[in-house]
Amino acid sequence: ASSGKINIAIDGPAGAGKSTIARMVAGRLSYVYVDTGAMYRAATWYCQSLGVEPEEVEQVLQIVKDLVIDLIPIENGQQVLVNGQEVTEQIRSLAVNAKVSRYAQIEGLRSRLVSLQRQMALRKGVVMDGRDIGTTVLPDAEVKVYMTATVEERAKRRYKEMKEQSAISLEQLAADIAERDRLDQEREISPLRQADDARLLDTTHMCIEEVVETIVSYCKIYGMES
Ligand code: DC
Repeated sequence: ASSGKINIAIDGPAGAGKSTIARMVAGRLSYVYVDTGAMYRAATWYCQSLGVEPEEVEQVLQIVKDLVIDLIPIENGQQVLVNGQEVTEQIRSLAVNAKVSRYAQIEGLRSRLVSLQRQMALRKGVVMDGRDIGTTVLPDAEVKVYMTATVEERAKRRYKEMKEQSAISLEQLAADIAERDRLDQEREISPLRQADDARLLDTTHMCIEEVVETIVSYCKIYGMES
């Protein structure tokens, strides 16, 4: 097998654990992790900071035309910069959560972010997670994984993450996740769907380590040591 680098695409619904897994796989292989959800969030935050609503498509396109987004790896995560401004915390706010899927439906916004994402993957050695990586952004990625878990399991994982700061019930969380799945799958442009050549990985009954090992094992035929 060749010892050159490959690209790894990880897609799946909200809350399947993609970002945790993708970051760990990148760590194992000394690859670069690209969180495309953070890029949609950064674009959303920036539009909102200028008071531009998702309905104002022309203004949104004007803004994203020259948008610069930097993802800088730090210990246990990444820093997100939009046009040089640090917005790591802000992009996880309720205001961004509530509107990001609306901005993510805008075709010109998507094409701009997709082109940035392809640039980041040009030299290979990237683990990229999102909704449309295997289907649209990197159709030639050597390894493609479609990660899922049941709605109940994803809700449980989210609940564990946030129960301290939130009064939201497990049932409400499950309903929210099911609704996000629907929006992502029914979107007209680049909907969430498993690429024909992606491997389906149902993580409902798997621990994090097992999922990481499984994905690293998919890379072995490309000469990755593990
Ligand atoms: O994975 P996340 O929750 O951070 O993603 C935020 C939003 O961005 C989510 O509503 C789906 C959208 N998204 C997208 O449309 N395409 C991607 N490649 C990544 C995220």
